[in-house]
Amino acid sequence: MVTDTLDIQISRAENSNISQLDFNNLTFGKHFSDHMLVADYEDGQWQNFRILPYGEISLSPAISSLHYGQAFFEGLKAYKLADGRVSVFRPYKNAERFNKSAERLCMPQLPEDLFVQSIAALVDIDQQWIPEKENHALYIRPFMFATEAALGVHPSSSYKFCVLTGPVGPYFSKYLKVKVETEYSRACDGGFGFAKAAGNYAGSLLPAKKAAEEGFDQLIWTDSREHAYVEELGAANIIFMIDGKMVTPSTRDTILKGVTRDSILEIARSWNLPVEERRIAVTEVLDGIKSGKVTEAFGVGTAATITPIAAIGFEGEIYTLPDPAKGEYAAKLRKTLDDLKYGRAADTNNWNFIV
Ligand code: PLP
Ligand code: COI
Repeated sequence: MVTDTLDIQISRAENSNISQLDFNNLTFGKHFSDHMLVADYEDGQWQNFRILPYGEISLSPAISSLHYGQAFFEGLKAYKLADGRVSVFRPYKNAERFNKSAERLCMPQLPEDLFVQSIAALVDIDQQWIPEKENHALYIRPFMFATEAALGVHPSSSYKFCVLTGPVGPYFSKYLKVKVETEYSRACDGGFGFAKAAGNYAGSLLPAKKAAEEGFDQLIWTDSREHAYVEELGAANIIFMIDGKMVTPSTRDTILKGVTRDSILEIARSWNLPVEERRIAVTEVLDGIKSGKVTEAFGVGTAATITPIAAIGFEGEIYTLPDPAKGEYAAKLRKTLDDLKYGRAADTNNWNFIV
């Protein structure tokens, strides 16, 4: 039985795959480090935490996550600090959100310390996989899924918690051209948009594919009732600079409460920049682009980091933002956050969890 301190069995890989990797040519999410962590929830308890060589796991085709979607994930990153230490960025924020997702999907809680200790142990073992390059990091993907082999619709009696890691470069390699979605919805009131549920992403694929066919990189999701208010992007939260203020949609049950968003708002407030978390009408953004009030827009997320938006499409019309290369705040925020994450600036907020 596992209580406060984690007892992890470790089976090391006989050979490392690291020599096969070209660190100068990383595709996001395609490369995996040598090890993974797996734990089982059985008989009402988390047990059997183990680190083993990354590889396939054998499962029944009847497991309920495959049929009824009890599955969710997290995303966070580890960095090599300037002084050589290894750090994970704000893992307790992800631990908290992990349990919010679990609660909504009727899945068991994982004590926050066990979540963080699991990640720290895995990152420690594979720390040579952390890229030491600007804009690069070791991406960490914790996830939980239902493993009971049963076709009745009910909460599973067993689950697996797993963590994978892999070196990544930037998720987006250019400024974004995004489309305001006015037909499909990602999340609805009373639903689970705030959770990192696998199903939220499944439902976003067709609309995103259609938008990609029209030349867009991402969607701006809007509220499902009227499609009149901005919510977030497909893989990131969204922030605007309007009239010198930082403005972002307030979080609600349809929006993922991003750790990057939270960090940026805290930094902006520390600069005494006016910050508004509120509902943002699509028309406010489009009119503001036309009048010059909207000076910048950017996607913010763990994978996305801070990616400027160059243009927004709405009902066949393209609204072009001022040249993102001249955007003051996206660049300044990115530098401040990166200096902190790579250990080049004092971590006054205690955001770096040293492994
Ligand atoms: N919104 C969605 C839909 C996401 O997938 C992500 C990525 O995790 C975010 C927002 C940003 O969240 P975070 O900053 O915690 O990575
Ligand atoms: C992340 O930023 O960690 C995400 O989960 C985005 C993604 C779906 C790749």
